[in-house]
Amino acid sequence: MTPKGFNVIEDAAFDVRRIGIGVLGYGFMGKVHSNAYLKIPYSFSAPAAFPDLIAICGRDEARVADAAARMRYRGYYTDWKQMVQDPRIEIIDNVTPDDRHRAPSIAAAQAGKHVICEKPLAMTVRDAAAMRDAVEKAGVKNLCCFNYRFFPAVRLAKDLIEQGALGQIYHFRGRYLQEPGHNPAAPLEDAWYASGTKSGILLGIGSHIIDMARFLLGEILALSGLVRTYNTRRVSRAGQAETVTADEGSVTLVEFASGATGTLESSGVATGHRNQHTWEVNGAQGSLAWDLEDPNHLQVFLDRGPLPEVRGFTNVSVTDPCHPLPTVYLPVGHNAGWEYGHVHALNHFVECVAQDKPVAPFGATFEDGYRCQVIMDGILRSSRTGRRIELKY
Ligand SMILES: NC(=O)c1ccc[n+]([C@@H]2O[C@H](COP(=O)([O-])OP(=O)(O)OC[C@H]3O[C@@H](n4cnc5c(N)ncnc54)[C@H](O)[C@@H]3O)[C@@H](O)[C@H]2O)c1
Repeated sequence: MTPKGFNVIEDAAFDVRRIGIGVLGYGFMGKVHSNAYLKIPYSFSAPAAFPDLIAICGRDEARVADAAARMRYRGYYTDWKQMVQDPRIEIIDNVTPDDRHRAPSIAAAQAGKHVICEKPLAMTVRDAAAMRDAVEKAGVKNLCCFNYRFFPAVRLAKDLIEQGALGQIYHFRGRYLQEPGHNPAAPLEDAWYASGTKSGILLGIGSHIIDMARFLLGEILALSGLVRTYNTRRVSRAGQAETVTADEGSVTLVEFASGATGTLESSGVATGHRNQHTWEVNGAQGSLAWDLEDPNHLQVFLDRGPLPEVRGFTNVSVTDPCHPLPTVYLPVGHNAGWEYGHVHALNHFVECVAQDKPVAPFGATFEDGYRCQVIMDGILRSSRTGRRIELKY
């Protein structure tokens, strides 16, 4: 019996398109993407569509069933080949480890699904090209999940650069620093980049700073890179000594098509840094700087202030309704957390599918993922050969 005064909301009362979602993987990113889909209907007052969480997939039945129940999926699969054929699913979201991105993403595109894949798009240029070709051939929408494009402060920076507020751009100076491998005596597994897929720091977090450089300043045409593994022997938790080949850090000089130059640094042994992603852009009439450890603020310097004695950077709180990507249910100054990058990224993709809009230029497509892969490959080749590399996409 319905309690007195209680009004039932029927599903049909929501005149909003539903989009069936299938998520492959329930680890760190499985949780972050599920959280984003769940937040979309109440973070945005008029979402383009409601994500309908049809299924999540994993190989361990007990664990994936538990994840499905806790994250409110209708059910689960233990075989991704079956999930990509589910007719209720329109978007397949691949959040498996880097070396598992290729096959499910291609199969999903071939089954006519729109595809999201976490970064880096693949482990090699060849795999990334095959994935890019598959989504283009199938004519499906695609997103390589470079989530930092979807922080309001980053989007404001892009707007300011495109409006010409900084004038001619000279420099991009970006770095992504973590510390998990700084202690050579710690177990191998602590250095996430050297165990599991052994992707290394360049693919793991260096990819983010490369995408940020391209997003803000445009295409990179040439580079000179230096990549290092400082600790080539580590001992696993089980006491097994292992040779480590995954890179632990890199420094790269880049040349943009615009004539600007940049430095990109990534490290997994930057002692004391938990997750510091920072960049700075310098132009003839101004500069911008951003730090993931203070993600709601953009440091803005414009070289035309009226008072010379207070000339300096302004700390702008990018939380106002006039700013890009307002997170509508948070009032001004109520800072959004790291997870909102994914909320905005996945909402953008859902909107692009629902309204048949292009994912680029704000969302990174598989083409962007492929180009990032070409750059990473160039950095590794440059370091191996000691040569400057002119890139071919
Ligand atoms: N954009 C970001 O901020 C960000 C942050 C961290 C990781 N990532 C990327 O996200 C991806 C996933 O990373 P993670 O940290 O979530 O990893 P994770 O190890 O926590 O989770 C991976 C999941 O994939 C599942 N999986 C692996 N092989 C499978 C298969 N054959 N079939 C079904 N499920 C399978 C695992 O069981 C697990 O649930 C990686 O590509 C990583 O580089 C992105």
